Amino acid sequence: APSDPDLVARARAAKEKLGDKVFVLGHHYQRDEVIEFADVTGDSFKLARDAAARPDAEYIVFCGVHFMAESADILTTDAQQVVLPDLAAGCSMADMATAEQVAECWEVLTEAGVADVTVPVSYMNSSADIKAFTGRHGGTICTSSNAQRALEWAFQQGQKVLFLPDQHLGRNTAVRDMGMSLEDCVVYNPHKPNGGLTPEELRAATMILWRGHCSVHGRFSLDSVNDVRERIPGVNVLVHPECKHEVVAAADYVGSTEYIIKALEAAPAGSKWAIGTELNLVRRLANRFADQGKEIVFLDKTVCFCSTMNRIDLPHLVWALESLVAGKVVNRIQVDEETEHFAKVALERMLALP
Ligand code: 13P
Ligand code: SF4
Repeated sequence: APSDPDLVARARAAKEKLGDKVFVLGHHYQRDEVIEFADVTGDSFKLARDAAARPDAEYIVFCGVHFMAESADILTTDAQQVVLPDLAAGCSMADMATAEQVAECWEVLTEAGVADVTVPVSYMNSSADIKAFTGRHGGTICTSSNAQRALEWAFQQGQKVLFLPDQHLGRNTAVRDMGMSLEDCVVYNPHKPNGGLTPEELRAATMILWRGHCSVHGRFSLDSVNDVRERIPGVNVLVHPECKHEVVAAADYVGSTEYIIKALEAAPAGSKWAIGTELNLVRRLANRFADQGKEIVFLDKTVCFCSTMNRIDLPHLVWALESLVAGKVVNRIQVDEETEHFAKVALERMLALP
């Protein structure tokens, strides 16, 4: 539905009044009505870099989810204030690894005698606490666009990797991109005593995968891939690496949201694509490329938005911007100093990856 013209005018006016004082970042999964007001759009990696690149902006309004706003706070100066227009915009995957659970896991690894040779690699989609744990224990953060480089770096530091919290990104990168076997991976279940693993299993494993996943990407199945290939002969299947291993193994191309966009930009006219990622992005791309004769469909029959990304809508954005105009910072995301210090160590290791 088209946006309320009154709200569009208010958002425009507020941004104009704030000028260079505000920098609005929008993740690719955001609604069109929000993306319209983003100064920059990107995947998680690009947005982390972009947030750090505007030290002159007093306010960073992050249109994305909580862990992204936290990362922006960590990577910006102390004087800058980060705003998340709706505090309910969390991430169910990030919630699957709490600081207590991860501390317990490290104890289990210590008791099995493998902690010393294990390097934590945490997906950007994790809380600042988990990033700080990662920094404290010599590990790095990764995103879906640099997971392989992060793992290669980690295996230069130690013999095993504890990959948090997305088991699929960890497994897909290890097996699809780095030639490991499924048997090299074990899954640590935080809801079971000792993660559901014996010390022998931990000692034999190369990749210790946390039992977390994305509920949005988890909806795509091997059937979705087979169905779309039958329905659309010649279709290219392009999926995000948060999808299950069997989906990624059956796909033609795999990559981050930024990769997906670039692939479609480069695609020849007349080509057909089925995309396995969040629906706001897929719809936007389908509309954008329709007049170039590129057929782009969603890789599933059911509609599938990320409900927390969708929490950020135009009314929330207008409220956040107009509050800033009135001199009031609402929904500030601020990571405490100690957590920030160690989380930054881990994030900077990622930013320094070759
Ligand atoms: P990227 O934008 O890094 O591809 O990540 C997708 C995602 O799920 C963010 O929550
Ligand atoms: Fe989290 Fe999945 Fe939504 Fe990304 S798409 S924010 S991983 S729930």
